[in-house]
Amino acid sequence: MKGKLPENFYNPISIVGISLTVVAFGLIVFLFILDRFSSQSNPYMGLITFVALPAVILFGFALAFFGLWRTARKVKKGLPINRSLRVDLANPKHRTAFLMFVNGGLFFVAISAFGTYKAYEYTESVQFCGKVCHNVMKPEYTAYQNSPHARVPCTGCHIGNGATWWVRSKISGAYQVYSVLFNKYDRPIPTPVKNLRPAKETCEECHWPSHFYSEKLVDHTYYLSDEANTKFNISMLVKIGGSDHGAMQGIHAHMYLDKQISYISTDRQRQVIPYVEARGKDGKVEVYQSMESPLTDDQRKTGEKRVVDCIDCHNRPSHQYKHPEFSVNMAMTNGAIDPTLPEIKMEAVEVLEKPYKTEGEALSSIQSGVQKFYKESHPDVFEKRSKDLAVAIAQIQAIYSQNYFPEMNVSWKAYPNNLDHMHSAGCFRCHDGKHVSKSGKVISRDCQTCHTILSEVDTEGKRETSLTGVEFKHPVDIGDAWKEQLCKDCHGKQEEEPAPGK
Ligand code: HEC
Ligand code: HEC
Ligand code: HEC
Ligand code: HEC
Ligand code: HEC
Ligand code: HEC
Repeated sequence: MKGKLPENFYNPISIVGISLTVVAFGLIVFLFILDRFSSQSNPYMGLITFVALPAVILFGFALAFFGLWRTARKVKKGLPINRSLRVDLANPKHRTAFLMFVNGGLFFVAISAFGTYKAYEYTESVQFCGKVCHNVMKPEYTAYQNSPHARVPCTGCHIGNGATWWVRSKISGAYQVYSVLFNKYDRPIPTPVKNLRPAKETCEECHWPSHFYSEKLVDHTYYLSDEANTKFNISMLVKIGGSDHGAMQGIHAHMYLDKQISYISTDRQRQVIPYVEARGKDGKVEVYQSMESPLTDDQRKTGEKRVVDCIDCHNRPSHQYKHPEFSVNMAMTNGAIDPTLPEIKMEAVEVLEKPYKTEGEALSSIQSGVQKFYKESHPDVFEKRSKDLAVAIAQIQAIYSQNYFPEMNVSWKAYPNNLDHMHSAGCFRCHDGKHVSKSGKVISRDCQTCHTILSEVDTEGKRETSLTGVEFKHPVDIGDAWKEQLCKDCHGKQEEEPAPGK
């Protein structure tokens, strides 16, 4: 074989190396063009184009140079290879070869730099984070797409700006790839996420804490689990103020620069909080302890004190696995499930909450379960309103697919939402009325601390309205239980609480 490259290149190893490089390069160009012109891009293609093939190119290069080096060594040792390694720029043949080599080298370096950049960009993309490890990230990716942050890339909250966190993320990312390849990951993925970047450097890049004013109107329509799906409604103003100019009062006062709140929790998910500290700018500290389960001396010594930031309330800004009561109420309110179907509220929540092994099993059981229920309990509805039933079933299935991920053991039960107090303790972790300071101050559980109920339509359809606040009326008569117990005791996960300290 004769050509324009240095003769020592013409050994079998180098030729294999160079061929690999050329083929991989061609493939990259081809896939890249394909990717540009196809409307549906495939996440695996990026993995091949920007990670696997560039690796092959590098390997090919290494091989080629290894061959070159080996031949050159043989030549040096005088082993029987009849070639010289002389480069003589006066020799036109050598000169062309040299120029070709240098130019080619530069070209490849440029392409590799581009490739590396694309690889960087690709590993930062929502596709890479959310779809490559399809089963593992399916819950987060699905919930994310239905969240207010669907247009914020995963890295916006999980990595943020700057090089240190980028490197850290790639290191922990490498471990994650390993754990997926070898099936070593937890189901569900445990939270709180370890080493999540502080909210100051993520959320606060977009949201400005000193700019919280006013109040937010929230409207909830509920349906009871009775035959008529009895309806009632609450409209309330949530007091989201608390900035350092203007509205000093309100929920975001926790973030108010004048006061810093920290706490010690005794469980992994930070759901049990026996100890709370509020430190004023003047240095005055108010310590609140739970009267029910105060911190033991041991726990005080070993417990980690955490300063409250956005994540302590907004722990589900993007991955919201909704409670079935919430989703079904919502679907009934907007008509996606017809509220005139008798007992549909109860039945829908029931089929959603049954334990299933796979999504496929769940979807078919939901269909057969609801049909069976109506066939037996309401045969007239089953016959005359099969169309309404079919629409309702499709909606219940959609709710399931967006909020339950049996393969990963994920649902609202796996990840408590701290922004509320209905289905998990949330605000009531501290605001249960049982956290008291030495001077007798209590972290308030008064229903008007955080929101004002403007209007309530009770189960008889009677509306009560007041701008200064209507007293909450629990929709079914449970006496004073709603004042004494936590809402989640009846409305939340019905399992054994983790004992404090676990
Ligand atoms: C608006 C900010 C935000 C965005 C965008 C976001 N996340 Fe998260 N994510 C969080 C927060 C906050 C947590 C921590 C929850 C906790 O510690 O309790 C979290 C937790 C997780 C978890 C742990 C399990 C769980 O469900 O809590 C995974 C996995 C995850 N995110 C993956 C992703 C992926 C993949 C994307 C992009 C498709 C993404 N995140 C986008 C804020 C975000
Ligand atoms: C890249 C910018 C960006 C980052 C980072 C970001 N957000 Fe947002 N966030 C937005 C935008 C934009 C909206 C408004 C979305 C809309 O109204 O459709 C929003 C909306 C919200 C809302 C209102 C949601 C609702 O139901 O209306 C909350 C709460 C919120 N963000 C909290 C957070 C928290 C907590 C973090 C950090 C974990 C965070 N955000 C990180 C841009 C961001
Ligand atoms: C003490 C708990 C708590 C903390 C800490 C907290 N928030 Fe909130 N935030 C709330 C509540 C409660 C709401 C009202 C939620 C609702 O009704 O939808 C809210 C609402 C919001 C909204 C929506 C406002 C609107 O006009 O709709 C944004 C954005 C937000 N918070 C961002 C943040 C950011 C950023 C941080 C950290 C700097 C933060 N919050 C810290 C409890 C908190
Ligand atoms: C870690 C404990 C803790 C959690 C969790 C918590 N709070 Fe608080 N909150 C406090 C403490 C402590 C105070 C009283 C501070 C003081 O001493 O003035 C307070 C005060 C308040 C106030 C009164 C602020 C003012 O301007 O007077 C509001 C409103 C409030 N919290 C809302 C909420 C909401 C809403 C949630 C849930 C989303 C929540 N808090 C969760 C500890 C907590
Ligand atoms: C420490 C603050 C705080 C206190 C105290 C508080 N709430 Fe709330 N409450 C909230 C927040 C935050 C939400 C979520 C607002 C939303 O739905 O967007 C909420 C939501 C609700 C809801 C709607 C729940 C849902 O998921 O549909 C009801 C009803 C309610 N509160 C009643 C009460 C009653 C009754 C009391 C008094 C026993 C009370 N709250 C005390 C903060 C508080
Ligand atoms: C002793 C148990 C108990 C306690 C404590 C309790 N509830 Fe209820 N709640 C019920 C029962 C039972 C129903 C009727 C459920 C049904 O018909 O679907 C109900 C229904 C509701 C509903 C309508 C159901 C829905 O989501 O569609 C709301 C809203 C509600 N309660 C709010 C609260 C709030 C807020 C608290 C805490 C301040 C609270 N409850 C505390 C037992 C309780």
